[in-house]
Amino acid sequence: MKIQKLLFLLFCIITTSCGSGKNNKRLDANPEQARYPEKYRPQFHFSPETGWMNDPNGMVYYGGEYHLFYQYYPDSTVWGPMHWGHAISTDLVHWTHMPVALYPDSLGYIFSGSAVTDAKNSSGFGTGSNPPLVAIFTYHNSELEKGGSNTFQSQGIAWSIDKGRTWTKYSGNPVLPNPGKRDFRDPKVFWHKETGKWIMILAVHDRVNLFSSADLKSWSFESEFGADAGAHGGVWECPDLFPLKVFGSDDTKWVMLVSINPGGPNGGSATQYFTGEFDGSHFTADEKAVKWIDWGTDNYAGVTWSDIPEADGRRLFLGWMSNWNYATVVPTSLWRSAMTIPRELILSGENGKYFLISRPVSELSVLKKEVKSIVPRVKDNMSDAGPLIEDPGLNQCEIEFEYRIPDGYHDSLGIILENNIGEQLVFGFSVEAKLIFIDRTNSGNTNFSKRFVGVATAPYESGKRLKMHLFIDASSAELFIDEGKLVMTSLFFAGEKYSKLRFFSKNPGSFPEIVNYYTLESIWADKKSGLKF
Ligand code: FRU
Repeated sequence: MKIQKLLFLLFCIITTSCGSGKNNKRLDANPEQARYPEKYRPQFHFSPETGWMNDPNGMVYYGGEYHLFYQYYPDSTVWGPMHWGHAISTDLVHWTHMPVALYPDSLGYIFSGSAVTDAKNSSGFGTGSNPPLVAIFTYHNSELEKGGSNTFQSQGIAWSIDKGRTWTKYSGNPVLPNPGKRDFRDPKVFWHKETGKWIMILAVHDRVNLFSSADLKSWSFESEFGADAGAHGGVWECPDLFPLKVFGSDDTKWVMLVSINPGGPNGGSATQYFTGEFDGSHFTADEKAVKWIDWGTDNYAGVTWSDIPEADGRRLFLGWMSNWNYATVVPTSLWRSAMTIPRELILSGENGKYFLISRPVSELSVLKKEVKSIVPRVKDNMSDAGPLIEDPGLNQCEIEFEYRIPDGYHDSLGIILENNIGEQLVFGFSVEAKLIFIDRTNSGNTNFSKRFVGVATAPYESGKRLKMHLFIDASSAELFIDEGKLVMTSLFFAGEKYSKLRFFSKNPGSFPEIVNYYTLESIWADKKSGLKF
């Protein structure tokens, strides 16, 4: 481990000045470096300057700023003693890197958790006129773990009274000691108006526990959920619980998100959800069957922003764009992992069944650089039709199109992204099998892990038309089907940038009529965050 760390530091010194997140000056001093030119570096997704990142943490909106904290190990590109890295945005699109917010201490590493605005100053850490931000996180004590104890995870809190710039850990930590359970982590806290108390949802092995508190410092057990619901192929992690209006009605349901690893639908990590009722103490699910928020291989530990103003009213989600099956060995240099694009979650209800729709946040449209509406050529044999788009900009773009599915058509249709060395990334719908798929078998470098699954599939019932909306960014693809009814997120590591796009279908009648293709700006190209320090 020590040698690995030394080599990493040496590498950083040789290739670029190495920031631990404490050093934001480097980016300001050197605008070229701020563009993050590394081969697989996403240009419109959040990634740390250097070092290892996993789950999004402590996402909270406060005073016009979206805070994003994240699981961070600044000293290596593989997981290690966890810190909370920090970034701020005023528009959900452009991010400013901030100093590390929370460092490990004698109680342990700082694992995942959440942050809230303590508007009534119930904790007493601030004042009525300057309410504190309070972060609630898991302490992971690796010494206790190594010693064979089961009590190595507990919950701690920290507070900030300067808009999240600096944090003080509470002297009475841990606020929720471990009751003797091995997996006891990832608190998400929210204010429950109806009962006037704080609620914490916590992952406990393969269930969740709910706790309540008046002051964020002292917690009482309320209930457990999950023994007989959802997927149980692995440990439950990073839960979330929030109310959401049913689209087009006055009803509100409660939605619970729970990540699971392993046990995802395409192997390894994934996030399931439940809809139901919450009475301030117990959650009751409408259905016990498992539903996935994203069927792709690379969206994990996603949760939603706290304290989005009512006037906005959206439920905004962000996930970690990787999978524990191979996250530590993906072939990136200097940094590892990015987040998904921020997504709005919408609850749709049909015949008493509820499901989540995910849509890219509208703010992303500021990145649209060049818009091309393309009318595809129709040839007899579509699988031989030449590339429709030939443009290096495909590496950083958004594409929207809609297929017709002719009566009696049973084959597959979709699109292929290609580069000049014959590598391909395929997105398709297998009409007979009723499966949406992303095939990255020949997409480039896949041999860093046997668990980097080739074809990911998702069951899908389509109508006579199928809309595909795709975001491509250097090494990631996010595919939204039919306005977000189904989403698949997938990493890929092509040897060269993809520069050609072609459609495939065995029936010319299915070809999309219009394709909207946008190249997108880099969020790092200039500092548009608007942050004032
Ligand atoms: C999820 C997770 C969390 C934990 C964190 C540690 O990816 O395993 O359960 O808090 O990562 O980094």
